Amino acid sequence: MKLSVIGCGYLGATHAACMSSLGFQVVGIDTDQGKVDLLSSGNLPFYEPGLDSLLASEIKTGRLTFTTDFSAAADADVHFICVGTPQSKEGLAADLTFVKSAIAAIAPFLKDGALVVGKSTVPVGTAQALREILTISAPHADLAWNPEFLREGFAIEDTLRPNRLVVGVVNDRAENILKEVYQPIIDLGTPWIRADLPTAELVKVAANSYLATKISFINAMAEVCEAAGGDVTVLAKAIGYDPRIGSRFLQAGIGFGGGCLPKDIRAFMARAEELGADQALEFLREIDAINLRARQRVIDVVRADLSEDLSQYKIAILGATFKPDSDDVRDSPALDIAAQLQAAGATIVVHDPKGIEPARKRFPHLDYAERVTDCVKGADAILHLTEWKEYRELDPAVIGQLVRSKFLIDGRNALDREKWRAAGWRVHALGRTD
Ligand code: UDX
Repeated sequence: MKLSVIGCGYLGATHAACMSSLGFQVVGIDTDQGKVDLLSSGNLPFYEPGLDSLLASEIKTGRLTFTTDFSAAADADVHFICVGTPQSKEGLAADLTFVKSAIAAIAPFLKDGALVVGKSTVPVGTAQALREILTISAPHADLAWNPEFLREGFAIEDTLRPNRLVVGVVNDRAENILKEVYQPIIDLGTPWIRADLPTAELVKVAANSYLATKISFINAMAEVCEAAGGDVTVLAKAIGYDPRIGSRFLQAGIGFGGGCLPKDIRAFMARAEELGADQALEFLREIDAINLRARQRVIDVVRADLSEDLSQYKIAILGATFKPDSDDVRDSPALDIAAQLQAAGATIVVHDPKGIEPARKRFPHLDYAERVTDCVKGADAILHLTEWKEYRELDPAVIGQLVRSKFLIDGRNALDREKWRAAGWRVHALGRTD
């Protein structure tokens, strides 16, 4: 069986390399020549632990190739659509331009019996509409939907050892083809869920909405803890022992960002409104608002502690990416806070182990430092906003000698407060009052 992967961004590049590692012949197709050249030479246009070596070794086997030429997909049996669905410029809805153009580009090359498999996150109803378009342009092909749940930083593991496989299909044939593709993963005992097209599409946005809700729930509790004199980290630990709640995704802090959760909950609300089910998802508006408020709370703490007018102050920002082990700065809470503090007059210097270049592209007016020691030099406050391991390993005594004032805000509740306090630091952690 031969596979094609259309769209070689985060999802597509990962999927292509992982499918190749299962022994399939895979061609990755992308319209961006630069990306194709980079991938063909075994290099990644983004950072993902372990993926660079997997990509390089799969290319060496000869099973994995990349091209901008859609005709290269002509002999493939299964075509995975992995293009992006960003938030549209006009509103909350998802922009489906790339999905539609990918289907249109591949349609002329689909052989009889080919299966097009959407993996991109799309508003419910998209798959059915695309299937209808395909029956006109490529009547001998079929379409299925197979959402992915991969997390940045764990992309290979989530692709090759996912906690479930969900396939939206209209007939047994499509399901059987997908079973053949995923057989090695099914053999690991991975639960297999067959659904109809709308349910498969909904599973993805429902999962991300639930995760976003869990994070905003604990951040709402953090607000209450701050008001009532409590400690949200102890609260999270205590409620997390209840297996019905579970302790994961209860890390209070500056909230969620990235290329998925924020845009997915917004697109979900927009789609529900179109369907006349807007009331059902009204709560997601609050989830979004709590999330953005967490960023504002950090700015409020800085202003309350230093001054309303920040023009005399230097603030060091530790972390630019939306989470550690990634170089992704899309909708990064850390950079949002950095930019807002700069707009309030502060001198900002940002450090990040992997994200400085992508951050510089999005926020060219911020200053960046390659080394933590340069970042914190002369700072009046340090804001820990992305919980990279190397920040946990910092020596507060050494850092204390470089700053102007030993004031730390832990926006991720991930540093050892006692260690920093013992070295003479004032520490403010979100949701903790002691
Ligand atoms: C998410 C989903 O987890 C994944 O299943 C889906 O396929 C894509 O979207 P990802 O965007 O890689 O994955 O990040 P995730 O690990 O979910 O974290 C999202 C954000 O939430 C990050 O900014 C992270 O810092 C934040 N977060 C996470 C918290 O603030 N608290 C937590 O307890 C967990």
